[in-house]
Amino acid sequence: MCGIVGYIGNREACPILIGGLRRLEYRGYDSAGIALLNHEGNLNVYKEIGKVANLEAHLADKDASGVIGIAHTRWATHGVPSVRNAHPHLSQSGRLALVHNGIIENYAPIKQHLSEQGYTFQSDTDTEVLVQLIEFCQQRDNLPLHEAVRRALNEVIGAYAIAVVDRQEPDMLVVARQSSPLVIGVGEDNSEFFVASDATPIIEYTNNMVYLNDGEVTCLRIGQEMQIHTLQNEHVDAQVQFVDMSIGSIEKGGFDHFMIKEIYEQPQSMRECMRGRLLASRHEVVLSAVNLHRAKFLQAKRIIIVSCGTSWHAGLIGKQLIESWCRIPVTVEYASEFRYSDAVVGPDDVVIAVSQSGETADTLAALQLARERGAFLMGIVNAVGSSIARTTDTGIYTHVGPEIGVASTKAFTGQVLVFAMFALALGREKGVIDTQTYEHVIDELSRIPDKMETVLRQNDYIADLSKRFTYAHNFIYLGRGYNYPVALEGALKLKEISYIHAEGYPAAEMKHGPIALIDGEMPVVCIATHHQLYEKILSNIQEVKSRGGRVFAVVTEGDESVCKLADYCIQVPETLSPLAPLLAVVPLQLLAYHVAVQKGLNVDRPRNLAKSVTVE
Ligand code: G6P
Repeated sequence: MCGIVGYIGNREACPILIGGLRRLEYRGYDSAGIALLNHEGNLNVYKEIGKVANLEAHLADKDASGVIGIAHTRWATHGVPSVRNAHPHLSQSGRLALVHNGIIENYAPIKQHLSEQGYTFQSDTDTEVLVQLIEFCQQRDNLPLHEAVRRALNEVIGAYAIAVVDRQEPDMLVVARQSSPLVIGVGEDNSEFFVASDATPIIEYTNNMVYLNDGEVTCLRIGQEMQIHTLQNEHVDAQVQFVDMSIGSIEKGGFDHFMIKEIYEQPQSMRECMRGRLLASRHEVVLSAVNLHRAKFLQAKRIIIVSCGTSWHAGLIGKQLIESWCRIPVTVEYASEFRYSDAVVGPDDVVIAVSQSGETADTLAALQLARERGAFLMGIVNAVGSSIARTTDTGIYTHVGPEIGVASTKAFTGQVLVFAMFALALGREKGVIDTQTYEHVIDELSRIPDKMETVLRQNDYIADLSKRFTYAHNFIYLGRGYNYPVALEGALKLKEISYIHAEGYPAAEMKHGPIALIDGEMPVVCIATHHQLYEKILSNIQEVKSRGGRVFAVVTEGDESVCKLADYCIQVPETLSPLAPLLAVVPLQLLAYHVAVQKGLNVDRPRNLAKSVTVE
């Protein structure tokens, strides 16, 4: 989704802004632009369709100087991808330039009103309406920029993170947020400020950051404390946080793509996620979220998990873990549906939001609904300091490090691991899980990182196999029990990055429809690790084979029965059924990755997709 970068200081802004846009490329976009302002009030705007590299090439022969600047990568909502619709947008007189992430829902009546006042519009965007509205307020009431922004935003309904500059006030940068993320990096002694949609473009300059809250407008000036005001004009003290993130964690480190780097990071990210929480030697799981809110969790009559995409698949596994080990009923809802449903939610419910980015608009809105109805809110989030982390009553960070590849990999295994630890801790508090199971699972969890390393050793074999599947137009993924969500996740990975249509099914459902699709052209991926439903999925594989389907199976080491039937077998180490997804998903991530690489596709930035979906 749209990315914003801003700078005000004494350095040349252009390289900082372009570098920042590159760091945000992973979010997904279709055009890019930049506005540069110098202290003399010269304001220049440059935009290009396509990649940031195109913008950079366009700037090569320009005098792109300025110490204040704003830049943007656009993911089209209102109006097609084009230079005309790309940001920054200028106000009517050309004095203001603005970048925006989000959607102004009431842009049409505002546009109508402004048109009646003589304003004309160059683009199809809601954003241009906003910058004209700010100028309108500024000129009507003779206001300084930050005050005009505040007034204008009071008339706006919708979601926004914005950054605005004014050529008549070439010493300030004004930013604001409502339901779209925005972070401000603070240079030493306020000598410079960096603005971005997330911390990744800022981290190479400073670890000191301020996460704006909804409804806050901030005025940044060199050498001065930032001035934060609410939309109602109340002063807010800036809360500067130290963000512990290294530059190495957001670079490729020798891998061809972020996705494969992140797949390979999983053994380590599992260790990070367990650190200080899973105390193997004491056979204990300690989660402060559960300890601090023990009563809330023990009283919970029901748990509702809300999420989207890959995080929703993790939620399906979470449901099985919580129901097994805590005996609390769990429902798993698409956040986008839940937010508009007349859900029966109340104070006896715990709502768990699962999100890598912590910024997904639908998940945030689902939490809002649950909050209004009195539920207790917990987040399972990766991005530290993100909106969901700050909105919830408590939370458990996945701590798997920044995930840059659009197709989620290590975030998924982190989420499943957090659910496992949460269900163990809560099951223990409730006295539901027996000691033997509790300790056995803890032992087994501590072995998962090493077992994942064993799976990763088969990368070359999977890369080789992937060449046989690039022809395919359709795939079916089958799994049962804990492996059913793995089938969904494997299919999603393939769809996202290789553009091959893929469906995940609970294996037994195959005979209720999908079996009609099976022929010699149809690859069927079966997750058939050893567990109580092993014999059943064996029969399902037989059904596929007798219709000529080509079976790619994920099995437990030493398996004979499935391997005899399947065309290709990937073995994963033995583990407990509830933990099988942590291992079984890895070959599916690798398969999707290598098929996409074979097809020459942009693995890290697949078409039309965004990493962080900040609009509904
Ligand atoms: C987008 C991403 C997916 C992700 C989903 C939910 O669609 O491309 O990878 O699973 O959003 O995002 P979240 O950050 O809430 O987990």
